[in-house]
Amino acid sequence: MHTSKAIYPGSFDPLTNGHLDLISRGSKFVDELVVAVLANEDKHPLFSVAERVEMLTEATHHFGNVTIATFDGLLVDFARKQEARIVLRGIRAISDYEFELQMALMNRRLSPDLETLFLIPAEEYSYVSSRLIKQVFRLGGSVTDLVPPIVLERMKQRG
Ligand code: PNS
Repeated sequence: MHTSKAIYPGSFDPLTNGHLDLISRGSKFVDELVVAVLANEDKHPLFSVAERVEMLTEATHHFGNVTIATFDGLLVDFARKQEARIVLRGIRAISDYEFELQMALMNRRLSPDLETLFLIPAEEYSYVSSRLIKQVFRLGGSVTDLVPPIVLERMKQRG
């Protein structure tokens, strides 16, 4: 039997409704979707990797085929260990394209059998990024409806 397994990698600091939208879309066309949080990237994250995993777990528990994992080192090595042939990434606007293209081609060079699939998130989240969410929240603006309730709650505790 042929089953499909995809990795959706990212920093998820914090998880946004745009990410969640992508997880929802992705989970519908693969058998298994592993959301993989990159560990040890940012020296000053808003949330620790463990907290991000907790929030992702809570926000995705209703999807039957989504699991949460962490990885460090190369994404292609993690994908190989997971026996996944697909990497999912979202493209919001043309501005995302250049970096995504570089990553996809580098990953293809490192692991020719790993295919990157791009999904377009819902229009209403096309301007939402973790970076802007952090900035707006830090400066006192509302991010309600742009992040899942569990993330908003944790941000308020933090803020
Ligand atoms: O959500 P982000 O921060 O845009 O995600 C970037 C991520 C985690 C997908 C990317 O930085 C990554 O895959 N890092 C792992 C290191 C790696 O494999 N680098 C080579 C591919 S360019």
